[in-house]
Amino acid sequence: MRVTDTSDVWWKTAVVYCLDVETFLDWDGDGTGDFAGLVQRIDYLADLGVTCLWLMPFYPTGDRDDGYDITDFYGVDARLGTHGDVVELIRTARDRGMRVIADLVVNHTSDKHPWFKASRSSTDSPYRDFYIWRADAPPDTSAEVVFPDAEDSIWQLDERTGEFYLHRFYRYQPDLNIVNPAVRDEIAKVMGFWLELGLSGFRVDAVPFLLETQENTQQDKATFPDPHAYLRALRSFVGRRTGDGILLGEVNLPHEEQAAFFGGGDGDELTMQFDFIGMQNLYLAMARGDAAPLAAALRARPVISPDCQWATFVRNHDELTLDKLSDSERQEVFAAFGPQETMQVFGRGLRRRLPPMLDGDPRRLRMVYSLLFALPGTPVLFYGEEIGMGENLAVEGRMAVRTPMQWSADTNGGFSTARPNRLPAPVVEGGYSPAHVNVSDQRSDPDSLLAFVTLLIQRYRECPELGRGECTILEQPHAQVLAMLSTWDDGSLLTVHNLGAERCTVPVQLDGCDATSCLTDLLVQGNVPLDDGGRAEVVLEGYGHRWLRVTAADSRRLV
Ligand code: NOJ
Repeated sequence: MRVTDTSDVWWKTAVVYCLDVETFLDWDGDGTGDFAGLVQRIDYLADLGVTCLWLMPFYPTGDRDDGYDITDFYGVDARLGTHGDVVELIRTARDRGMRVIADLVVNHTSDKHPWFKASRSSTDSPYRDFYIWRADAPPDTSAEVVFPDAEDSIWQLDERTGEFYLHRFYRYQPDLNIVNPAVRDEIAKVMGFWLELGLSGFRVDAVPFLLETQENTQQDKATFPDPHAYLRALRSFVGRRTGDGILLGEVNLPHEEQAAFFGGGDGDELTMQFDFIGMQNLYLAMARGDAAPLAAALRARPVISPDCQWATFVRNHDELTLDKLSDSERQEVFAAFGPQETMQVFGRGLRRRLPPMLDGDPRRLRMVYSLLFALPGTPVLFYGEEIGMGENLAVEGRMAVRTPMQWSADTNGGFSTARPNRLPAPVVEGGYSPAHVNVSDQRSDPDSLLAFVTLLIQRYRECPELGRGECTILEQPHAQVLAMLSTWDDGSLLTVHNLGAERCTVPVQLDGCDATSCLTDLLVQGNVPLDDGGRAEVVLEGYGHRWLRVTAADSRRLV
């Protein structure tokens, strides 16, 4: 196995961990998380096995969309720290073997951004064309809004000049006009700035909307006929400036359309994209206790260039979107995991975390995380998943899953020493509160979810077959089972997951194997014999999961 390749293209076998500095750890006791707190927990993240931190927006903000409404792309929100603190964090992370990427939110700015203030000041402002304006009354665009609870149009009338500006998201997030070369130059400068401070790339927000020029004039479009050329330019810019930096794009589109955002066969646009389709079908498969939807989604992934990668996840900071399922499929997932209206949001997603959705069933929870790390791609965790945090439905909308990290059973879950009413959001209450779910307790418990996720990460890192290899879904007789064989170079790993509650025995046949090889269990002690025809019988408990390395008699790989 060519282990050396794994350091070269590091992101193919990375473990990404998303967090918001604001809710991770408050070190100065003012109620808000800060860089000084995060840096105190770098060793915790390194012990967990994280290799890449993804920081949610930490820039100065109007703070109406949890930092995704930015007022200064070059700044650091003073509540969180300074540029010096960011650099110290990046440096300390690097020392512990972790890279840092951050959200790049350049589809839009806050309406409080100086560019927008200048743009709206008059129709002949030099910044007017930084945004997209129209003078005539817009048509009905209510079907196009992203947040239907708050908006009914993607255009907002600006009283001062009597024209309308485009906003794909909230009205206080005017869309930047990338057709304007001056805007493109500014975006490149922003990226260059943070890369120079040590970031290893970006999670790029809302990529399809960023590239969208549908609302520009015909004349504009003629000067900028190929928005994907711009994405190619950004990828090569990051490559030139860093050598190995990445663009991890948010592109929630059908698989066929995602292929274009990778740059098709050339693989020269986004380095990685989240597999939203796989994620949504994972929930459908879990709801049904039938692996077929997930298997179909994996099989339907477009073939991508070796220069690209899928990012897998079971939860992110937004609503758990089910928008790409059919209406009846979505209802099945709602019925299984979020039957009450208060658990749902925007008519398309859930605002819950996984453990409460699974009624806290530890077998199912472990099976899902085992599956996440076994899927072909690079796994992305959202903070708190490793300890099984729940949500707080008393907190509005998507913020229900963005509550403070639970470090201990102390006041505020050890997140802050401030009065509880000063926190960015109240901590989780009830069975998933810090009294029951916290890092400190789980660190000293070898049977904890934290210990299990740490093991999964260790094994994932030791099995580059998963991040880099070819994955084949094996035929076997049980509808509730997903059996995958991941192969890279001379290594192969069989992973088997039971999405159903019944115990079963899975017959598998591995080409090219005979009784001189065996299947070595990587999660518990033991192995499964193979016969001369390469056949084995793998026993799976209800919601069971197994990682089995195909081990030849003369193998020198450590287990
Ligand atoms: C996508 C982000 O994930 C979400 O949190 C945000 O509200 C929108 N983009 C707008 O920036």
